[in-house]
Amino acid sequence: MLRTGIRLLALALCVSAGGDFDWTKNEKTSFYYGTFPTGFSWGVGSSAYQTEGAWNTDGKGMSIWDVFAHKKGKISSNETGDSSCEGYYKFKDDINLMKEMKLSHYRFSVSWPRILPSGLRSEHVNEKGIRYYSDLIDLLLDSKITPVVTLYHWDLPQVLQEKYGGWQNASMVGYFNEFANLCFERFGNRVKLWITFNNPWSISVEGYETGEHAPGLRTRGSGAYKAAHHIIKAHAKVWHTYDMKWRSKQKGLIGISLTADWGEPVDVSNQRDVEAAERYIHFYLGWFATPLFHGDYPAVMKEYIGRKSGQQGLGASRLPVFSPQEKSYVRGTVDFLGLGHYTTRYVTQKNYPSGFGDSYFADRDLAELVDPKWPDPGSEWLYSVPWGFRRLLNFVKTQYGNPMIYVTENGVSEKMLCTDLCDDWRMQYFREYINELLKAVRDGVNVKGYTAWSLLDGFEWDEGFSERFGLYFVDFRNKNKPRFPKASVQFYKRIISSNGFPSQREVESWKRKAVETCSSSNQLLAADPLIGHMEMVTEIVVPTVCTLCILLSAVFFMFLLRRRL
Ligand code: BGC
Repeated sequence: MLRTGIRLLALALCVSAGGDFDWTKNEKTSFYYGTFPTGFSWGVGSSAYQTEGAWNTDGKGMSIWDVFAHKKGKISSNETGDSSCEGYYKFKDDINLMKEMKLSHYRFSVSWPRILPSGLRSEHVNEKGIRYYSDLIDLLLDSKITPVVTLYHWDLPQVLQEKYGGWQNASMVGYFNEFANLCFERFGNRVKLWITFNNPWSISVEGYETGEHAPGLRTRGSGAYKAAHHIIKAHAKVWHTYDMKWRSKQKGLIGISLTADWGEPVDVSNQRDVEAAERYIHFYLGWFATPLFHGDYPAVMKEYIGRKSGQQGLGASRLPVFSPQEKSYVRGTVDFLGLGHYTTRYVTQKNYPSGFGDSYFADRDLAELVDPKWPDPGSEWLYSVPWGFRRLLNFVKTQYGNPMIYVTENGVSEKMLCTDLCDDWRMQYFREYINELLKAVRDGVNVKGYTAWSLLDGFEWDEGFSERFGLYFVDFRNKNKPRFPKASVQFYKRIISSNGFPSQREVESWKRKAVETCSSSNQLLAADPLIGHMEMVTEIVVPTVCTLCILLSAVFFMFLLRRRL
């Protein structure tokens, strides 16, 4: 009894105090030459809505993103993912690109409405959709590339949003489990690494708090917490179903992909800043990771949201509560942790008075800052701060008992205006971030693989096609959506073939060599508008000329007739 009490106390302390993570140890050491452990897995990632296109083809149902993107004013330049990279038709070409890079794994997502158009298994299974993913998996395996399959990368069937209010409704837990089961049934003999959800923080905050993402709701201070609560339960249910029904036969692993920025205290000797940074991470990563590893929300979230809800005169906290049964149900449901990471913020304490209104952001009582010296080559939120990656990885190690980790996303974008294939800044980003990952592995963080985001330029959600994360440039103006390698393809290939960074001499030559190859690709790209122009000739000019000829002949014929009369 006493021992259980001590264990519980230790657990509570661990949940609230952030394990034994050392906040004062802010290492920004020099480049480390060395290699990753043998068998380390190198991959690239993509997601269905961002790349597949074929939005209304072969029996696919509508997703919340199809509907959202078609509403005016939601996406930059009102672009949509209707055709995107046409990945649905070009997956064989894309696998060839992966083979050339000698990748070990490919992370992609299944579009739920492509295989269950109304969202419900009981209503209709779209065999053509099943066939597409089945063929993709087969070809990957034939090419010795391990498929890593995300079940939910944001494209909820629209019917489920309309009928039930999407993730705010508890019924999603059961529907998602049915969909996941169908995937295990049809693909599970070949897929061994499953990711239930991609970046649930974004689903909740951007989908239900700020409304920047589908379904575009602004239910401030409550909807995001509700959505997250159901997502956590849905993840746990799928893990338990797999455990009971499929694990012994299929021998796969079920993980979740959490994306988080690192939060560094502005002044590490100031306790209030340290606590603010800790809150930043707990409201980001801990919101999902703490229930899944420890069975409940982080203590700071319960405390802050509970207190603010009280001050706002609410009878209960806006943060839902897990019952004792639910706590033990969600705890320990992660076979591996997928980690997405892009950037870092400095964090300091900032009070949001209770009159400020409900909001996830106000609940945290903090301010985010950036160092103007940090490079920010692409998306405005994405500053390159490599050392934050190592610190985040070490935080996960100390906080959650050194779980098995796959880095499921890491990369950098460029703005649309820049069509230079010599992406020097991306090579730099990969070089430094992967080096920090190597240092983290040397620190003892249990990382099994790394996934560069992304294989192709794609539909970048509310930013449309204006921000490009691809290793391959996609010419979206051209109907055929041709792919062109950026220099970073060569650079990443070198990292893969050396399994890290073997020596200074070698690594220094990589960038130079990569730039040599990209200049010729740049010329190719510059020549490509010709192809686009030739399509215009067939598509617009030829019909126009034909119509004109017919009109002229008609006029000429009438003229002849008149003269005869
Ligand atoms: C999402 C990706 C997206 C990336 C960059 C990630 O959190 O999962 O789909 O492309 O952020 O914005």
